[in-house]
Amino acid sequence: MTTHTKEGAHILLVDPACFDVHYAINPWMSPEAWQADAKRLKDEARAGFDALRCALVRIGCRVTVLDGVPGLPDMVFPANAAVVLDGRALMARFRHPERQGEEGPFLEAFKRLEAQGVLTSLALLPEGCFQEGAGDCIWDANRGCFWAGFGPRSDAAAAGFVERYFDRPVIPLGLVTERAYHLDVCFAPLTGGDVLWYPPAFSAQAQTTVVERVGMSNLIAADAQDLAAFNVNAVNVGRDIVMARCTPRLRALLEARGYRVHDVPLAPFMLAGGGAFCMTLRLDRSTVPLVGRDILVREVCA
Ligand code: ARG
Repeated sequence: MTTHTKEGAHILLVDPACFDVHYAINPWMSPEAWQADAKRLKDEARAGFDALRCALVRIGCRVTVLDGVPGLPDMVFPANAAVVLDGRALMARFRHPERQGEEGPFLEAFKRLEAQGVLTSLALLPEGCFQEGAGDCIWDANRGCFWAGFGPRSDAAAAGFVERYFDRPVIPLGLVTERAYHLDVCFAPLTGGDVLWYPPAFSAQAQTTVVERVGMSNLIAADAQDLAAFNVNAVNVGRDIVMARCTPRLRALLEARGYRVHDVPLAPFMLAGGGAFCMTLRLDRSTVPLVGRDILVREVCA
C-alpha cells in the first residue's frame, strides 16, 4: 500500500458541556433515551470526548477545543460547521432550524481562527442554499477532489459553490436514506487511496460514480452493523483510524490493509446520530499532496 506520512493534522473539537439530545432531526436521535438516563449519558459523553481527544493527540494531531453554547447541543459536531481547504473556510448553512443557531457562534469562532492565522479567508453561501460543512463535503487528498453528499441535508446546488470557491473538482453523490443523512456517515476516503463506504446509502448513479472513480479494488464495503456502530464516520490520519467502538469484521478488513484502528466509546454521541469524524473538523486540509507535505512537529495539547 501507499507509504503514509504524518500530515500535520490540526483538528477542531467542541467541548461537550452543552451536549444533550432534546430534539430529533435524524432517525438515530432519541430524546426519550437521553432523558431516561441523562446524568449517566452526560458523564459518558464527557469521558468519550476525553478519550477521543486523547486518541487524536496520541496519533499526532494538534487539537483546538472550542466552547459550546447552551441550547445548541449539536455544536459538538463541528464537521458540520464549514468546509475548509488551504486555509479557506466556506461556512455551512443548516437545513434544520434546530441547528441554524450554530451558524453565528461558528462564524465568530472562525473569525478568531482567522485572526490567529489558522485560516486566511471565510466565505458564506448564498442564503437558502443548504450545505452542512465537511459532514457533507469530504476532501479526498489522494484524488485532489471533494466528494459532496446531497439530499437529506445539503442541496445539490451547493456543489457548484464549493467548486467555484475552492477551485477544485467536486463530485456530487446523491444520498437516498435517512439513516445516512450526511455523507460522512457512509463514506470515508482513506489515506492509502481506499474508500470505506456503505453502498446502500447512495443512489444508483452515485454508486456507479464511486465504483468508476475509485475502482473496486480500492473500495471497502461497510455493512449495516458497521454503519450503526458509526464506524464509517472515522478520522484517518496516516495509517491511524480513530472511530467509535469498531466491529470485529471491519477491524480485520482495515488491519489487512495496513491501518491501525483506535476505537473510543462514543455511545452518547451516537444517540445524536454522530461518531468520531463529525465530532472533528480538519483545519489543515490542503491541496498539496500528502507525500509532498512537510512533516510538521506540532505542540500537542494533552
Ligand atoms: N444531531 C446532529 C444532526 O442531525 C448530528 C450531526 C452529525 N454530523 C455528521 N456530520 N454526521 O445534525
